[in-house]
Amino acid sequence: MFVVGSGARHLEDELRRLGGELLGTEIRKFPDGEKYVRILGSADEVTVVQSTFRPQDEHLLELLLIGDALRERGARKLRAVVPYLAYSRQDRVTKDGEPVSVRAVMRAIDLYYDELYVFDLHNPGTLKFFPGKAVNVSPARAIADYFGDKLGEGVVLAPDRGARERARAVAEKLGLEYSHFEKKRVSPTEVQIRPVDIDVGGKNVLIVDDIISTGGTMVKAANLLRKMGAGKVFVAVTHGVFAEGAIERVSKAVDELAVTNTIPTPVSRISIVPDILGL
Ligand code: R5P
Repeated sequence: MFVVGSGARHLEDELRRLGGELLGTEIRKFPDGEKYVRILGSADEVTVVQSTFRPQDEHLLELLLIGDALRERGARKLRAVVPYLAYSRQDRVTKDGEPVSVRAVMRAIDLYYDELYVFDLHNPGTLKFFPGKAVNVSPARAIADYFGDKLGEGVVLAPDRGARERARAVAEKLGLEYSHFEKKRVSPTEVQIRPVDIDVGGKNVLIVDDIISTGGTMVKAANLLRKMGAGKVFVAVTHGVFAEGAIERVSKAVDELAVTNTIPTPVSRISIVPDILGL
């Protein structure tokens, strides 16, 4: 049985259409701005789907309130499916006195939930902060299905070494080559950024990453590929955390930009709902 929070309303119709059974909810605000949550019905095992994009804190708190309400109604096993986990990039202390925010968030979720499923976590190593079963779900199959035909015999690239595993996962599903961009010092004054050990000349390229924020990373990579004579350039990203103007900036630089629907955006063309139902 599923419960869908207000951060995952955009997934609700597809969840139902593909066979998910949902408990009803009443979610609104009290006049003072605090959140009111009520679960209509009960079940022994419940999967709560709640993405925590803007307003992040509100969506996170709602996930906890839903957990509390379900436990109050006697739920025995609760799974949290959090397509986009807020604070996931704050995974280390960079200045004395800072928290490891993703740890705080995971510990709070653990107060109510037995299992946590997050899509394409920025740093999968941080799953260790969740004491129960914690899973990083890859959207590689959905991305490969969406771009496979358009890409043809092309290649898959990650914009940096950190995202190489993402490129590998998509490329393997399509039986294609993959690599990543790396900075290479070619002279004391010149640093080149190039895809490592792969020829992109005349080939279609799919660049994959976890997040687009300003779009700077993708625009730079796409411009380089054009200069190197690549064919069509496509971009697939899991979380469209778009800063003002980022969709336009990236769309102008590439042949197609598509992100998944972990966050609802005008270019969320790749659905993670089948993956949620398969968990
Ligand atoms: C960085 O480690 C991330 O994986 C993304 O590459 C980065 O957040 C993208 O940011 P922007 O769109 O601002 O270049």
